[in-house]
Formats: sequence, structure tokens, C-alpha cells
Amino acid sequence: MILVTGGAGFIGSNFVLDWIAATGEAVVNLDLLTYAGNLRNLASLRGNARHVFVQGDICDRNLVDRLLAAHRPRAVLHFAAESHVDRSIHGPGAFMRTNVEGTFALLEATRAYWSALPGGAKAGFRFHHVSTDEVYGSLTPDAPAFTESHAYEPNSPYSASKAASDHLVRAWHHTYGLPVITTNCSNNYGPYHFPEKLIPLMIVNALAGKPLPVYGDGRQIRDWLYVTDHCSAIRAVLERGRLGETYTIGGGNEQANIDIVHRVAALLDELQPSAAGPYARLITHVADRPGHDRRYAIDAQKIERELGWRPTETFETGIRKTVQWYLANTDWVADVQSGGYRDWLATNYAAR
Ligand code: NAD
Ligand code: TYD
Repeated sequence: MILVTGGAGFIGSNFVLDWIAATGEAVVNLDLLTYAGNLRNLASLRGNARHVFVQGDICDRNLVDRLLAAHRPRAVLHFAAESHVDRSIHGPGAFMRTNVEGTFALLEATRAYWSALPGGAKAGFRFHHVSTDEVYGSLTPDAPAFTESHAYEPNSPYSASKAASDHLVRAWHHTYGLPVITTNCSNNYGPYHFPEKLIPLMIVNALAGKPLPVYGDGRQIRDWLYVTDHCSAIRAVLERGRLGETYTIGGGNEQANIDIVHRVAALLDELQPSAAGPYARLITHVADRPGHDRRYAIDAQKIERELGWRPTETFETGIRKTVQWYLANTDWVADVQSGGYRDWLATNYAAR
């Protein structure tokens, strides 16, 4: 079996659902259920003996020790993190705690467990660290896309905390021989994406007739990857990736935010037109994000060449599926729009 951290969040829950569907192997899923964790994402696994959910904190060394000893996983896949840049600007402390201290605690617990494994199990063990392209900082318009050898230049508290965690993972390999692999992926989108991030926020705001807040000029560029393509990349790396290596993962799909918002609005016009007129009428430019990275782009040649991975969705197929999913799952959206989430919207957007 494998141990997944953060498996009730956006990417983690997609990964767990894919894993259970695609493999015969069980998953122990350790998640604290912060505002971003949602067991509804995993509702289809209720009663499935191959999914064991444990609510708990990756910083809790005793708990992680006990889980490793009880379940004897062959791999740890580490998704758990605080993941939202704007929240990291308003409150960086939680990012340092979970992303830095939590990764440290998890590495130490894993090292103790792995050191005591018998030969074959020890040789086959993996610690897979799920990270982001944001650790590389911001690209100028004509710069080549990020590769694995790009310098670390994080600019936000979020990306700095993820960069720190990447460095810890690297050091645990070089110093202690822990069998680690790190992946640095571009922006994901798809089902179960919490509506604080750009694409789901635009969908749910548009449907509610609320403004679509575009930071600054909206010309910032991200490289969007459909979430299940990220999940298949992680499976390929876990199976065939080289120890101690890093792999960048991306969709080869650079788009400016404003173009994304127009595409989402046009799809909603097609699939659920509003009597009040085209959804693009709701686009509102608001104050920019402090320290806003201008451009991210991934060169995914290494994972393509070495592991034969390629995304299966284009942006057109992926964004259509995503909009359709939100239209079909309005109860999921209503559920996550809890009191705490409403408070966040006031904190982030009131003064913009
Ligand atoms: P998310 O915020 O949707 O989910 C994070 C999950 O971690 C939640 O379920 C939360 O409850 C859990 N968690 C938080 N703190 C915890 C703690 N202390 N102990 C245990 N669980 C805890 O995040 P996501 O978008 O699914 O991202 C998952 C991982 O992928 C993160 O490490 C993130 O840095 C990375 N990543 C995300 C993207 C993206 O576009 N979302 C892109 C590249 C990499
Ligand atoms: P986000 O989804 O928060 O991901 P990240 O900051 O990790 O890339 O934001 C994606 C882009 O969209 C980013 O350039 C910020 C911008 N953005 C807006 O313009 N308006 C919004 O309301 C949000 C949440 C993001």
C-alpha cells in the first residue's frame, strides 16, 4: 500500500480516486482537513476497504510514526500543503508550519521507518514530494520555459515555503540516502478545485452573477495542466523515475489570465446562458497581487523523454470538462461555500 498526505485536497483527492481506479493497491490517506480538505471529494470511496482515511497533521510525528508502523507502505506521496498564494500573503505562518515544518517531520518519520526496512523493501521504497513550478520564480516574456536545472527564485511566501521543502527533500537524499523524487508541476485545473483559485472562482462567481476579479492587467501567464494528467505523471514517476531526480511537469499550454477568464465566460454562455447577457460583462479589473509573478512555463522534455509521459487533455477538452463538472456539481460548490470561505472572500477582495 501507499501513504498519501493531503489526499482530501484538490490534487490529492483526484490522485487517490485515480489510484484506486487504476491500480490494485490500497491507500492510507492522511489529511488534516483544513478549509481546503473535503471528504466529499472521496465520497465515491465510502465503504471501499482499499481507502483508509486518517484525519491528522503531518507535523504530528507520533501519529506519522504510528501510521507507518501499522500500514507498512512501500511509498509516501506527499501532497499536503497550504497552497494558495493570496492566503500566504495574508498569513504566511501556516505555510511555514505545514510546508516547511510538516515536510521536515514527515521526512524524519519516513527516514526512521525506511532505515529499519528489510533489504528488498528498503531498496524499492520511495518518498515522492509533490511540488510546484512557482519555486523557480517569474519568467520574462521571451525567456525559455523552466527546466529542472532552473535556479530557485521563489517570490511569494507560498513559493518560498515550497522551495524550502524541496531543499529539505533534496538534503535528506544526499545526506541520509532517503530514496526521494521531487516533481515540480505547473498550475492544475479540473474537478474538486477549491473556488479560491482562478478557474473555479470565475465559474462560481459567474454563475452567481458576481464580479470576475482579474488582478492587475490580467496579462500574467500560467501553464495550465488538467489535474488527471498531473496524476498520471506522478504515477509514471513513482514507477519509473530515477532516484534523487526532479521532474518538471506541465501542459505546454501557456495562457494569459484574461484569456482564461474569457474562455470560461464563453463556455458558460454556451452551456448555461444568462438572461442578463454574456458572462464577460462581469469581468472587473482589481488591484494586483503584491509581488505577482508574471509568467510561468514548463519545459517537460525530461519526463517525456525518460518516462514517456505526455498529457492526454488539451486545454480545450480540459476546460470544457471542468466547466461541465462545476455545472453538474452545484451541491459540491454550495457545500464548500461555508462560513469560513465567505470570510476569506471578504478578506481578500474587500480592499481591492
Ligand atoms: P489543496 O490546498 O487543495 O489541498 C491541500 C490538502 O492538504 C488539503 O486537503 C488539506 O486539508 C491538507 N493539509 C494542509 N495542511 C495539512 C497538514 N498540516 N497535515 C495534513 N494535511 C494537511 O492543494 P492542492 O492544490 O491539491 O495541492 C497539492 C500539492 O500540489 C501541494 O503540495 C501543492 O504545493 C502542489 N501543487 C499544486 C498545484 C496547483 O495548481 N494546485 C500545482 C503544482 C503543485
Ligand atoms: P491562482 O489560481 O491563485 O494560482 P497561482 O497564483 O498559484 O498561479 O491564480 C492564477 C492566476 O490568476 C494568478 O496569476 C493570479 C490570478 N488571479 C486573478 O487574476 N484573480 C483572482 O481572483 C485569483 C484568485 C487569481
